Amino acid sequence: MGKYMPHAVLANSDLVEIVDTSDEWIIERTGIRERRVVANGERQSDLAERASREALARVGWSPQDLDMIIVGTVTPDHLFPSSANTLAGKLGAIGTPSFDVLAACSGFLYALYQGMTVIESGRAKRVLVVGCDVMTSITNWDDRATCVLFGDGAGAILLEEVDEPLGIVDIVIGSDGRYFDLLNMPAGGSACPATHETVDKRMHKLHMQGKETYKLAVRIMEEVSTQLMDSCHVKSRDLACFIGHQANLRIIEAVTKRLGLKPEQVHNNIERYGNTTSATIPTCLYEAEMERKIKKGDWVLLVTFGAGLTWGGALMRWAADPLPILEEAAVADAVAGSYPEKLRPGRDWLKL
Ligand code: ACO
Repeated sequence: MGKYMPHAVLANSDLVEIVDTSDEWIIERTGIRERRVVANGERQSDLAERASREALARVGWSPQDLDMIIVGTVTPDHLFPSSANTLAGKLGAIGTPSFDVLAACSGFLYALYQGMTVIESGRAKRVLVVGCDVMTSITNWDDRATCVLFGDGAGAILLEEVDEPLGIVDIVIGSDGRYFDLLNMPAGGSACPATHETVDKRMHKLHMQGKETYKLAVRIMEEVSTQLMDSCHVKSRDLACFIGHQANLRIIEAVTKRLGLKPEQVHNNIERYGNTTSATIPTCLYEAEMERKIKKGDWVLLVTFGAGLTWGGALMRWAADPLPILEEAAVADAVAGSYPEKLRPGRDWLKL
């Protein structure tokens, strides 16, 4: 696995200067203290490339070893070509099939499902699955109800078949398109192409009905978790690690309470990064592994939901040996050359 978060920190105290909010409100209602923001000129594909190169370096694979590259994202550099195409080009994985999966906050789980399925079918041996978003590019900085929630980041995971009865034991994804109005970006697609009016009305930004989304999130995440554990005859107490989509700490706490999980069974990073959409699950997984909260044979449950509505869950028996802890210098070597040379720190995104 690999993870990359941009360097610039946007703390709650910075947001107080932008909208009518407070550090206390944001922490109490969401659990978020700070989030990361791309530098001027830093692209979604840059984040994806950094995380991917780290993952490849940790297991010693070259980009040419990959049979497929799948990226979950709602904020690709461009609507087309896909982010995965751009990433494949940057990695030098020439000829490798690559495509994006658009399932909002469930993007990583959907991409993982695709990656697992293609390996099971025998058509691929090694797949790179990335969850990466630059949510600050579609954040409405005038809307205090949403601008405090999101951040930028990337997580990458490499998949291959294992001989032992370990790995992804069951995985589910689902959707309910009746809930379009709850969470969407109204303009920019073919239904509502860009005009001066759509830009003036902030229609290229994320719109959300928070309260309704919140209630559905808790119900769906609990249902998906229970469904997966029942199908695999696993009890909550058997889980070494539960990772839920990092949309709001209160949502995660409500779900884990209903499931009867103890705090030490749950890994979160929302406090530091906010909601990074497709990146929340792989970055949490990376951290849990790095902190050795997960070891070979452990039960791990991932569960997510997002705009669409979409949802997904994966119940795994951890199959990988501990990731080698590389020195910072070795990670830097692995990703050298993958970063724009002259990034200008700044806040141009605020003017978007
Ligand atoms: N600072 C201060 N006050 C605020 C802020 C803010 N940043 N935002 C809203 N408020 C106010 C509201 O105006 C409201 O004031 P009023 O009572 O005078 O009208 C009050 O706080 C309460 O607002 P609510 O919307 O009821 O607050 P709530 O406790 O529901 O929290 C939140 C809002 C954090 C957005 C919550 O509803 C939430 O997390 N929803 C789910 C988000 C989510 O899961 N999204 C899906 C994933 S994202 C994806 O798929 C891309």
